[in-house]
Amino acid sequence: MDKFRIRGGKSLHGTIAISGAKNSALPAMAAALLTAEPVTLRNMPMVRDIVTMGRLLAFMSATVSTKEIPATDYVIEAKSLNEAVAPYELVKTMRASILTLGPAIARSGVAHVSLPGGCAIGARPVDLHLAALENMGADITTEHGYIQARVSNGGRLRGAHIVFDKITVTGTENILMAATLADGETILENAAREPEITDLVHLLRKMGADISGDGTATLRIRGVQQLHGAEHSVIPDRIEAGTFLVAGAITCGDLTIDNCAPEHLGSVLEKLKQAGVMIESPSPTSLRVRGARKLIAADLTTEEYPGFPTDMQAQYMALATQADGVSTVTETIFENRFLHASEMMRMGAHITIDGRHAVVRGPAKLSGTIVQASDLRASAGLVLAGLVASGETIIDRVYHIDRGYERRIPLLVERGPARGSRALGGSGGDSILRWAFSRRRNQAKIAARDQSDGHLRVPILADVPSLRQRSRGMLRATALQARRADARIGIPSAAEVLGPGAGSRSRPRSDLFCI
Ligand code: EPZ
Repeated sequence: MDKFRIRGGKSLHGTIAISGAKNSALPAMAAALLTAEPVTLRNMPMVRDIVTMGRLLAFMSATVSTKEIPATDYVIEAKSLNEAVAPYELVKTMRASILTLGPAIARSGVAHVSLPGGCAIGARPVDLHLAALENMGADITTEHGYIQARVSNGGRLRGAHIVFDKITVTGTENILMAATLADGETILENAAREPEITDLVHLLRKMGADISGDGTATLRIRGVQQLHGAEHSVIPDRIEAGTFLVAGAITCGDLTIDNCAPEHLGSVLEKLKQAGVMIESPSPTSLRVRGARKLIAADLTTEEYPGFPTDMQAQYMALATQADGVSTVTETIFENRFLHASEMMRMGAHITIDGRHAVVRGPAKLSGTIVQASDLRASAGLVLAGLVASGETIIDRVYHIDRGYERRIPLLVERGPARGSRALGGSGGDSILRWAFSRRRNQAKIAARDQSDGHLRVPILADVPSLRQRSRGMLRATALQARRADARIGIPSAAEVLGPGAGSRSRPRSDLFCI
């Protein structure tokens, strides 16, 4: 089982380029099921969830092809949709698989999608998705752990006036996609307004959909007979950018974050500035963060966009452990999203949990130990805490982080006392830490130098194999499994479709996912 080993106590300096947004890329991939024509997606993050979604779409008999592994560009073509089955084996690894439900039933009038079940951060039901689809004329039953959805006599969904009881991001995305092919107009009220929703609207419009109201709580979708192919580049990942902002602030470093969208980070920037962090925007697509010598405690309440994102709560909690005073963190979106707090307490943080409130007293002297990652964002919070802890922190179950972070925080550590070591007299020492996880596009814009001998040192976290090897292995397996799965349901293999030699090394690699 992969682990991270972090020797903390150093400040971060350098530049990092943000990748595409996971939570925008996933619905964009599902949207490709809405048309028989190819949809080209660019700036896709190289994270495990994208590979899982690729496998799921391939299982639904779409072709998912890339030019390279891991990829930032995908071409998805769902010429036909067979029984549109999303199997439990795939759905259990990624809840966002539910995003295939809306497009599949809208396109083919039938869908069998495994219920996602709960996860570490909460029960996370999908009742609002199902109620809305029923409102649009779908017959929905759930049995043996599967959602069986069907439009009677194979017809089209019908437009409806839907008011969500609660704001739901993937619920909004599912109904938005379903409504594009429905008969008539759908009005979606109390819809989510996340930038990822607006990005999906932009893609759907390029595919020929008729939508208005993006960015507001009311979306109007006038259904069309069919959609066509399109090309779209997904927006930068605001949560990845936010995580690096906190990394720069908590270690009192100086980080420039490129390729990001500052306009999507309003509430995060405001809160960090309130905590005394210096942030400026050198260009419309970059941010520069410089940690203050003294962080100031500030209360936080997570909210739907444009409020402070729940996906930044764990990262902010790590920062609050180093701030002067008491910060009360209130989690309003998920009922069980404080698992990282008990791990931070094991590192020496002063946190008391009272239901949806976590009271954090700082600054605390954190010391390294073995901690467990429970979910994607909790892992990021623990990495940040490890950066300011004295000694070594070992983070277990980091597979969570592979799901949503492309670069495992390629941090540059300059020698010199950082918050951890000075304020708290942590070991710090002058060990140099750099997690080597970078990709061609971002190769080593940052360098590590040990002041004592001027040597460039790159301590590699040897026990964390790079995503590249694993995903290559995974992808080859995927195609094989998909071919076997398709053979089982009578879908011809690539060789049968494309002729002998399909998928062989000599052919351009674009057909790796071809089925
Ligand atoms: C999306 O999850 C994101 N995932 C989550 O990011 C994010 O934390 C969440 O939105 C909130 O911002 C993706 O976009 C793939 P919700 P989603 O439906 O859509 C309740 C990450 O780390 N609810 O907006 O599943 C639900 O239980 C992930 O990248 C119902 O009760 O979240 C929750 O309390 C984690 N019934 C609240 O609404 C429903 O039918 C908001 O959930 C749907 C939701």
